[in-house]
Amino acid sequence: MTEFASEPTWTLAELEGEGARHVTDAIWAYIQGGAGEEHTLRENAAAFDQWSLSPRVLVDVREIDLRTELLGRQVAVPFFVAPMAYQGQVHPDGELALARAVGPENVLATYSTLSSCSLEDIAKASGGAPRWFQLYLQPDFEVSRSLIERAERAGFDAIVLTADVPVLGVRDRQARGGFAIDASVPLGNGRDVVPPPRVPLAQGPVFRLRSEAGVSWEILGAIRSITRLPVIVKGILSVEDAQRAAREGAAGLLLSNHGGRQLDRSVSPLSVLPEIRKAVPETLEVYLDGGVRRASDVLIALALGAHAVGIGRPFLWALAADGAAGVRRYLRLLSEELATALAISGRRNLDEVDRNLLRESRP
Ligand SMILES: Cc1cc2nc3c(=O)[nH]c(=O)nc-3n(C[C@H](O)[C@H](O)[C@H](O)COP(=O)(O)O)c2cc1C
Repeated sequence: MTEFASEPTWTLAELEGEGARHVTDAIWAYIQGGAGEEHTLRENAAAFDQWSLSPRVLVDVREIDLRTELLGRQVAVPFFVAPMAYQGQVHPDGELALARAVGPENVLATYSTLSSCSLEDIAKASGGAPRWFQLYLQPDFEVSRSLIERAERAGFDAIVLTADVPVLGVRDRQARGGFAIDASVPLGNGRDVVPPPRVPLAQGPVFRLRSEAGVSWEILGAIRSITRLPVIVKGILSVEDAQRAAREGAAGLLLSNHGGRQLDRSVSPLSVLPEIRKAVPETLEVYLDGGVRRASDVLIALALGAHAVGIGRPFLWALAADGAAGVRRYLRLLSEELATALAISGRRNLDEVDRNLLRESRP
């Protein structure tokens, strides 16, 4: 008997369906939802439609190399897992399942301040693999300081300061879905850690917000003074902020609108990538997340100048569907698709991916 595929593979659509079947409707609304009417959520994906790939033929593509370097560290692929909170609500093994799946493949993952597992346990589960720690500033800077110091001790490679959540966005789908934090899944990084604030309307027109809503650019210097780790600013969407982050000593910029979860009608990261890439020093690494789903999306972002791209929701679909095994299958799916797309584009490695690969499909 001839054996064809040894293991069934998922298509991306099947993976999404599997993920949905394994969590409650409320958790699914939390994962999938965006802010307001979800214009930005849709726009993140639609922005990729503006571009088409222009392949070259009759190129020797027997050897395909997907490796790249991020902040001086080699990684297997030019995509990474974006930080996503509360993974223990998606699968009982939470972030540990993610770390066990991506670690051995040398794929970079970013872990949220609001992880369900502690950053020390995540570090152990990742083995020696590259990992970044995402920081939500805490009302008490001493709590932020302690998180940063713990991340450095635990061997994280960078701090990703999320700057686009001075307050939590208005998330209709999540609210309608009735999502609530399950108290039986504790925050892994300790009881002192708190999520970003909401605007407390009940207090009347004078907002009394927690202090992290009041920080400004000086915070970058304060963070850099207490850690040797490079600091990446996540949530940049304008040239002005990109240049300011560069001046304040950021090592990288993650262009992001939080997966359309913060400000509805905000611009898509892909649409601002070319102007931001041009406006900051070449030594500054620029990444992007939001709406990246297929290998073609990865190629488009790289061709427009991104060093790497973050991917969010699909990793949660995979985690929900089958824990670490699910994440491994998704990783394989996307990596193989990327190698295939690169080969058919007539490119052998990421150095060969540049603006020549693209044509505007709706100028
Ligand atoms: C369920 C969920 C939780 C998230 N939690 C965080 C978080 O804790 N910190 C953070 O900086 N971004 C968080 N994000 C935003 C992601 O890091 C990323 O910006 C976004 O998901 C990318 O868009 P994509 O899902 O379309 O790939 C979260 C996103 C989702 C979907």
